[in-house]
Amino acid sequence: MKPIKVGLLGLGTVGTGVIRIVEGNQEDLSSQVGSPIVIEKVAVKNLVKARNITVDADKLTEDPWEVIRNPEIDVIVEVMGGVESTKEYILEALERGKHIVTANKDLMALYGAEILAKAEEKRCDVYYEASVAGGIPIIRTLIESFSSDRITRIMGIVNGTTNFILTKMSQEGASYDEVLTEAQALGYAESDPTSDVEGLDAARKMAILGTLGFHTNVELRDVSVSGISSVTKEDIAYAKRLGYEMKLLGIAERQDDQISISVEPTMVSQQHPLASVNGVFNAVFVHGEAVGETMFYGAGAGELPTATSVVADLVSVIRNLKLGVSGLKSISPYKEKHLIQDEHISYKNFILLHVDDKAGVLAQITQIFAEYDVSLASVVQQPNEQNPDAEIIIVTHNASKASMDKVLKHFDTLSVIRKVKSVYRVEG
Ligand code: HSE
Repeated sequence: MKPIKVGLLGLGTVGTGVIRIVEGNQEDLSSQVGSPIVIEKVAVKNLVKARNITVDADKLTEDPWEVIRNPEIDVIVEVMGGVESTKEYILEALERGKHIVTANKDLMALYGAEILAKAEEKRCDVYYEASVAGGIPIIRTLIESFSSDRITRIMGIVNGTTNFILTKMSQEGASYDEVLTEAQALGYAESDPTSDVEGLDAARKMAILGTLGFHTNVELRDVSVSGISSVTKEDIAYAKRLGYEMKLLGIAERQDDQISISVEPTMVSQQHPLASVNGVFNAVFVHGEAVGETMFYGAGAGELPTATSVVADLVSVIRNLKLGVSGLKSISPYKEKHLIQDEHISYKNFILLHVDDKAGVLAQITQIFAEYDVSLASVVQQPNEQNPDAEIIIVTHNASKASMDKVLKHFDTLSVIRKVKSVYRVEG
């Protein structure tokens, strides 16, 4: 049987895992696809770097173009990361009729539409299961298993770094800074953690999931994003007291043919299955009109979990090659995009206020909620010996985002409110 030759771009954590799985599971893999799978060439940053995997020296190159231009290679597996130059490699590989497997969420969130269009033109496959939630097979599930349904909502804990930080803060009562330092020491957080903690990584993943779930081209700028760097241990303590866990939640919703996508720290009811997704684990909760609620849970990163998704994509690509059905149009967005206006996005809110502790203050505050038609579910004044101000905790019923913005703007003008300490979305 003629082997299928694969070019690997990148030999970091995921690339190493890909070689381990392709070599370790070769017998099963070749039985499943009907050909041996050979890693023909590997592009690395540095030829002489020490590695914890042995690869024949003649397979390694520092020049990705050598892999892309190799006429023997049928499939390019891109696990090198990066965006601009990586896009050029991928587009050129497609131009040459090579199929692509990538784990690159930044690339797919930013240039997915262009890459998929080129793939369609060239009748090539592009698979990117590992780009969202590492080892969880969510992309294939959205494309294939949900093809018969209309998805109304996707809620995801799709960033392990922030979930690790929030879980530790919740379980140990530790501060954000303490846990971030620990996460960095353990290698869960990068030395510059901005992309993870400010929600950008999750936003890119939600753009990919929203595009697949709603069949429209969700771009990064369509996602409203806020991160976890200002979440305090006090916020988390309040959340727990009220029966919630704090999670960085991506929420993509559809109302008729309009959609909204956001990533923000959210208080999730402890009764909701997402509340018990802890540590570096990821989960994606999908609601379909017909199927109802489903949830997918697993490792969101790591060498072997992520490589499993990459190699499963490789298997799909090779099966398509053998069947002669590569590059069939099946996943490109086909609906026009309409974003829901803020007046029509509604959810419950948690608000923590520091206010003057004197008569009539609560009345003034509740009057403002009434003025903008925001109904309150609970109002509690919390004694705090360390705080001379009164702490007021308010949970609203569902209220439109637009009305809540007006309430908060009005609060700025009210002298009895010393500080709007925290505002969070509440789910479940
Ligand atoms: N940095 C990501 C996370 C993993 O913390 O989940 C890669 O997408």
